[in-house]
Amino acid sequence: MTTETWTAVDDYITGLLLPTDPILDAAQEASRAAGLPPISVSAAQGKFLHLLARIQGARRILEIGTLAGYSTIWLARALPAGGRLITLEFDPKHAGVAQANLARAGLSHMVDVRVGRAIDALPSLAGDAPFDLIFIDADKPSTTDYFKWSLKLSRKGSVIVVDNVVRAGGLVDPSADEDARGMRTFVAALAAEPRVSATAIQTVGIKGYDGFAIAVVDTPA
Ligand SMILES: C[S@@+](CC[C@H](N)C(=O)[O-])C[C@H]1O[C@@H](n2cnc3c(N)ncnc32)[C@H](O)[C@@H]1O
Repeated sequence: MTTETWTAVDDYITGLLLPTDPILDAAQEASRAAGLPPISVSAAQGKFLHLLARIQGARRILEIGTLAGYSTIWLARALPAGGRLITLEFDPKHAGVAQANLARAGLSHMVDVRVGRAIDALPSLAGDAPFDLIFIDADKPSTTDYFKWSLKLSRKGSVIVVDNVVRAGGLVDPSADEDARGMRTFVAALAAEPRVSATAIQTVGIKGYDGFAIAVVDTPA
């Protein structure tokens, strides 16, 4: 089986289950036009996050790693009136594109894009916590630190999703790059964390071979 097949199946699924969405298409186009890297979640993954937030009944969402706000839009659209999403982004250019995309999507009133290193912003979020859903998708070597902060910003029942844990199999290759090593460290930390129930799922699709981890917080930090 090849990337071509995975892409064809993803296109088929997207064609049937994800109607054309001018707002999301415009967000991706603005990202491309601004020269941002094409590293957002796929449409099917974005909708998965959206459904997860709805299943969770999330009213407060934290995202670490905004890029152009594509996953942010999917997540924010799951919020009820009065809901809130905070998204952390290091690169001011990415944050600017995201803010414009969120404004076009009519979501600026419920989304706060905070610019700077996530590790510096996380300690300031105690007053906004607990978050019902946290999506970690930023610099991969820092994932374990972000996960530990996520636990502090959670309640019993909070859901934490971590993207890109499999990295085309790099997860099981100790000589893989620092991003994959970051994920090995993270999955080991997840396994050693008694306060959560967790698993990781391998995925294939338009984004290649990767996967995500998902944890529910049993006992907040
Ligand atoms: C994979 S992209 C996020 C994609 C986005 N979640 C989506 O699916 O549309 C990762 C983002 O994390 C940002 N980033 C990298 N290092 C960071 C850091 N230390 N703090 C906050 N954001 C960071 C990058 O600039 C990039 O925009």
